[in-house]
Amino acid sequence: MVPTLADEILRRLVEAGGTPVSGQHLAARMGVTRAAVWKGVESLRGHGYPVESLPARGYRLTQQGSGLRPGELAATLRTRRLGRPARHCSSVDSTNREAERWAGAGAPEGALVLAERQTAGRGRLGRTWADLPGRSLLFSLLLRPPLPAAQTPPLTFAAAVALAEALARWVPPQALELKWPNDVLLGGRKVAGILLEMRAEGQRTEHVILGVGVNVEGDPAEYPTAIRDLCTTVAAWTCPPPRRSEVLCAFLEAFESAYEDFLQTGLEALLPRWHRWFRLQGQAVRVQTPGGTVEGRAVGLGPTGSLLVDTGKGAPVREIFAGDVERSTTRVP
Ligand code: BTN
Repeated sequence: MVPTLADEILRRLVEAGGTPVSGQHLAARMGVTRAAVWKGVESLRGHGYPVESLPARGYRLTQQGSGLRPGELAATLRTRRLGRPARHCSSVDSTNREAERWAGAGAPEGALVLAERQTAGRGRLGRTWADLPGRSLLFSLLLRPPLPAAQTPPLTFAAAVALAEALARWVPPQALELKWPNDVLLGGRKVAGILLEMRAEGQRTEHVILGVGVNVEGDPAEYPTAIRDLCTTVAAWTCPPPRRSEVLCAFLEAFESAYEDFLQTGLEALLPRWHRWFRLQGQAVRVQTPGGTVEGRAVGLGPTGSLLVDTGKGAPVREIFAGDVERSTTRVP
């Protein structure tokens, strides 16, 4: 998707960092008339961007925006491919759904949908995902991995690793933890979640949608009563919190490298990066699986993303493919 003229002007004003840029310069660089630049600036103002006109000097942004609009993002994102093109919605049912619609209309790998709020945000296992409008980071990334459908689900681990690596720039790394399969915890409470959805034709992957929600700003007490004691925000750990756009760029940059490793060598290459954040290794755990409770010592991640649990007494290590894991106080032989 070609960026709109307004986005392109925004990108150039963000890059100028508050220094005025003349209308003539913008027009010449973009190959349009000065009248078109003026129209683009008016459109930015209509969207709430404080663009000042300084006589004989040009246009400048008087305040930073959220950084999440495509033009702003293009000015700061340092990935090679991921995060472009981008679509920013003030409100949407679910960024995963919007990405699915866009994928159906031919969006390329790397396309990104961002939202300020979701009216039907979805979590794993049919749960809902709550957000604080304008303060949570909510996005979906479209991927078109050249892999058979059965090999794509472990991409969720690449995303979890990238989230932990990104958030470690702002919060104490020792407080971050990955809870199998893919929750990101901060101080033992959930700070981010991942919803990976896929469309396949037989064994051929059409596309994968990687939906991510990160509780960046705000206070956990603002979340619905049922989850407020289970969740946290980045802002509860660092003041002032990072901007949502900074977290997004850090994630996309970390994920791009994890994704490339994954495409080349599979999950194997990511295991050391994942284990860095897996704090249950060697610990007694209880896992509620669809087939019952398994107790033992957590060994780590198996080659396809299963959780390996040593139940002791010389029994073979159990491979668990679905379930909820928690620390256990039961002694394991
Ligand atoms: C979970 O932990 O249950 C996964 C939560 C995933 C939430 C994100 S928010 C952006 C994207 N759109 C959705 O509807 N869900 C994901």
